[in-house]
Order: sequence, then C-alpha cells, then structure tokens
Amino acid sequence: MRRSVLYLNRMPAHFPNPIGSRLEALQLFPGGYTYMDLSELNRLYDFSGKTVVITGGAGILGGEFACALVGCGANVAILDRNLDPVQHILELMEPRANQAVAISADVLNLDTLHKAAETIREKFGKVDCLLNSAGGNKPQATTGADLPFFDLPPDALRWVFDLNLMGTILPSQVFGKMMAEKGEGVILNISSMSALRPLTRVVAYSAAKAGVSNFTQWLAVHVAQEYSPRIRVNAIAPGFFLTQQNRFLLTEELTGNLTARGKAIISHTPMARFGQPEDLFGAVLWLLSPASAFVTGIVVPVDGGFSAFAGV
Ligand SMILES: NC(=O)c1ccc[n+]([C@@H]2O[C@H](COP(=O)([O-])OP(=O)(O)OC[C@H]3O[C@@H](n4cnc5c(N)ncnc54)[C@H](OP(=O)(O)O)[C@@H]3O)[C@@H](O)[C@H]2O)c1
Repeated sequence: MRRSVLYLNRMPAHFPNPIGSRLEALQLFPGGYTYMDLSELNRLYDFSGKTVVITGGAGILGGEFACALVGCGANVAILDRNLDPVQHILELMEPRANQAVAISADVLNLDTLHKAAETIREKFGKVDCLLNSAGGNKPQATTGADLPFFDLPPDALRWVFDLNLMGTILPSQVFGKMMAEKGEGVILNISSMSALRPLTRVVAYSAAKAGVSNFTQWLAVHVAQEYSPRIRVNAIAPGFFLTQQNRFLLTEELTGNLTARGKAIISHTPMARFGQPEDLFGAVLWLLSPASAFVTGIVVPVDGGFSAFAGV
C-alpha cells in the first residue's frame, strides 16, 4: 500500500501535534508527503513471518546474523556442513529457538541444497531471503615465507575459489528460483575488502570475492529484468573481523598478539579496531528489509573506514 508522507522536520512551527496520527498527517498534507515515524520504521524491520536462509549459519558471522534475525521475528534456516556449533546458537536464541531450524547442507553440493529447500518448504512454507554467509580462506591457499605463489597447490586454490564464489552462486540458484516463483525475495552476499583491491597473500580469496561482488551486480540485473523487479540482490563487504578464517593471519597462535599484518590492518583502519559482528547488523537488516526496497546491485563496505583511507 502506498503511503502519503509526512516529514516532521518540515512541519510548520505552529503545528499543534507534530507526532500526530497518520490520518491527521494525511488530512493536513493531502497527496504530499509519505508518513514516517518510529513505529513505521520498526514495521520495516519486523521480519515476523519471513523466512531467511543463512548458509554458513553455524559460522561466527552467520550465527550472529541468525540470532539477530530471529530477534527481529524471522524464521531462520541455518545451513552448514557441520551442525555441531548450532546447538550453542540455538541456546543463544532462547526463548525463540523454535523459529530456527538447522539443516545439514554443503553449498557446493546441489543435491544437499535441494534437500534443504524441501525441508524449509515443509517447515516454513517459503523462502523470503537468502544470506550467503558460507565462505572463507585457508593457510594452504595463502602465500608466505614458506609458501611462494608459484607453489600454491591447485587443490587449495580451487577449494577457496569454489567455496566463496560457487558457494554463493549455487545457493542463489536453488533459493533464488523459489523467489522467482513467487516474484519477490532478497539475496544478500558477503564480499570482502579484498574484492575492492586485493589484499596481499590471499590470492584465491581475493579473486573469488571480486567474483562475488561482480556476481551480485549481474544477478541483481538478471532477476529484476527476467523475473521480478521485487527480487533484490546486494552484498556487504566487511572489513576485518577476527574469526576462524583469518585468525591465523591476524594473531600469533601461541600468544594471541597481533601479527605484523594485524597491526597493519589496524593502522589502516581509521576507526582503529577490528569489527565486531554486531557492527554488521545495521547493513544486513537494512539490505534484507523493505527499508532498502529500491536498492539492488550494490556492495556496502562495513569496514571502519578501511576502504576510504589512502594510507596517508
Ligand atoms: N571474518 C572476517 O573478517 C570477514 C571479512 C570479510 C568477509 N568475511 C566473509 O564473511 C563470511 C562469514 O565468515 P566468518 O568469518 O563467519 O567465517 P566462519 O566462522 O568460518 O563461517 C563460515 C561458515 O561456513 C561454513 N562452510 C564452509 N564450507 C562450507 C560448505 N562447503 N558448505 C556449507 N558451509 C560451509 C563453515 O564451516 P566449517 O567451520 O566447517 O568450515 C563455517 O561454519 C564468509 O563469506 C567470509 O569470507 C569475513
């Protein structure tokens, strides 16, 4: 339903009740402005009745996204290849854990993704949003003093490349098709700072995340033109968050102290810290919600200013 509008800061000074009802606003500003207040804002971020699929949902960021979305009312399907950590995530969600289901699925295996889609259809009836959070890097695909680029094993490179890029494309095929069938939905991918300008050492990861950003734009255009302009595809590009995938690069294993790379990152982050998962919530909830209804094909950096800083 289209709304008429009221911007409180445009209210005439003599207006007696600036926080008046929508009806009052419509009467006073016929055909003028769209109504917005805090309850309207909350309504945009109320995910009640929406089903969100999160790949890599047992991971650090995926688990945090799952908890935040359940807290905002969503039903969440947590997909991961190893469900051991999910019990802990479900405990954190109490008393709303019944809004979540954990499903074993490999983002590189279409059979398991199709089975997951069936389970979700049975449990929640539909898919409204897909958050492609499975991804990562590994030491064997990372150059270092003992591992020059020329000797990086193809298997390790392919593993990282496939996980991040194919592991975003395949779930988008399976769950995007369900969105195409009902003519609406939202896909949110996770790119990286490495997609903007490649970070040293992480060759396959950088190339794959650049691919994720490119795929985000491609799919946004494709689904809007071929299926429905009510299907949106965006990505976030997180800065540096200490998680399983990068701990070996950013901290010393024995002492936990920052490595030279960890220190370099902090010194190139104007906000002078690593991100916390909750720093991503605003962008994630915005891009999954109707608050971003006219936003598609973008990659939003959430990086404490890292990508804005020239280093000088
Ligand atoms: N942390 C950061 O600073 C950062 C920055 C930029 C972007 N990102 C991106 O954010 C996303 C989440 O990262 P994270 O830091 O939360 O990493 P994480 O804790 O390692 O989470 C990734 C999850 O994906 C799972 N996974 C791996 N391969 C899979 C497969 N084939 N099928 C299904 N699940 C699979 C992992 O399971 P296993 O534990 O079994 O491997 C893990 O549970 C990734 O795409 C990452 O590249 C992270």
